Amino acid sequence: MTKIRAAITSVGGYVPEYRLTNKILETMVDTSDEWITSRTGIKERRILKGEGLGTSDMAVEAINLLLKKRGISADEIDLLICCTVTPDLTFPATANIITDKIGAINAFGFDLMAACSGFLYGVTTGSKYIESGLYKKVVIVGGDKMSSIIDYEDRQTCIIFGDGCGAVLLEPTEEDHGVMDCIMKSDGSGRAYLHQKAGGSVKPASYKTIDAKEHFVYQEGQAVFKFAVTNMADVSVEIMERNNLKSDDIRFLVPHQANKRIIDATAKRMGVGNEKVMLNIEKYGNTTNGTIPLCLWEWENQLKKGDNLILSAFGGGFTWGSIYIKWAYDSK
Ligand code: UT7
Repeated sequence: MTKIRAAITSVGGYVPEYRLTNKILETMVDTSDEWITSRTGIKERRILKGEGLGTSDMAVEAINLLLKKRGISADEIDLLICCTVTPDLTFPATANIITDKIGAINAFGFDLMAACSGFLYGVTTGSKYIESGLYKKVVIVGGDKMSSIIDYEDRQTCIIFGDGCGAVLLEPTEEDHGVMDCIMKSDGSGRAYLHQKAGGSVKPASYKTIDAKEHFVYQEGQAVFKFAVTNMADVSVEIMERNNLKSDDIRFLVPHQANKRIIDATAKRMGVGNEKVMLNIEKYGNTTNGTIPLCLWEWENQLKKGDNLILSAFGGGFTWGSIYIKWAYDSK
């Protein structure tokens, strides 16, 4: 029997208009454009402004674009997985809100939370529904309104994160293209270094937690950096070796955009030159679940059928992983 694979057949993205530049941040916290640029590679990030707007609103934009490009309507979607750490509400799932807003009346959906690796976990999960033959059209949307959980008085975190969202459509193919291999990992002991202290069932919201600023991202940057730099490179090399890929075989590394130094180290370990690395951290910062699909969206017109891509991420949890994709179409 021919093997069914899940192929990405359309991509969409959305970033809000407002640009929070390093220069503006200089007026908000004790930092400098020079420090931020040299330590992270970030110049500006986008912020979603406007009362009542959340992650779902960015997701709707990205998915509607994806559907338009593919020439299909929302009622053809079978499953929608929303990868986010900033859901519109604690419940119901943001995926349910999105399916309602876009009119995906035949889809079921759920949220998937794996911090910065969420989109890769989502593609891994979604591709299994396709490979099993159960579904024909699966949307994986990854995005975050990180500005909703960032303390703009904390210079260690506010310089890093931004808002944005990207989405891919997975469809079955019998060709030897699509999602070829996935390696996902996690180590929950890493939660100590990157988390949000309150708002969950252990410590629900109270006046005390708000006064103590416990509803914001808490990160021990250096510790996370050390784990990220080793694990993201290791898992990227592991997926290359497992699939007999040499550096020359790789068209693009599509890395999570947390810190340019982590990306550079990963590319170096893989033997991949800068010209083969998708990099938008300078413009968008770290959009958590949005980084990788936003890269695919922006680079789509450079991709050709058969191109080998390695997607890699590391994030809170700790979670990390790598996906090998053989691109399934020439962009028009
Ligand atoms: O996406 C999820 C996973 N997250 C990551 O992968 C993030 C990993 N970590 C990082 O990217 C980096 O650790 C950061 C960008 C967060 C920080 O960079 P760093 O090179 O590790 O800086 P550091 O925390 O070691 O701080 C170095 C110095 C400190 O001053 P002293 O103690 O040497 O005097 C900090 O107080 O830089 C200071 N500093 C700043 N200075 C200016 C920290 N933040 C800032 C800032 N502006 N924004």
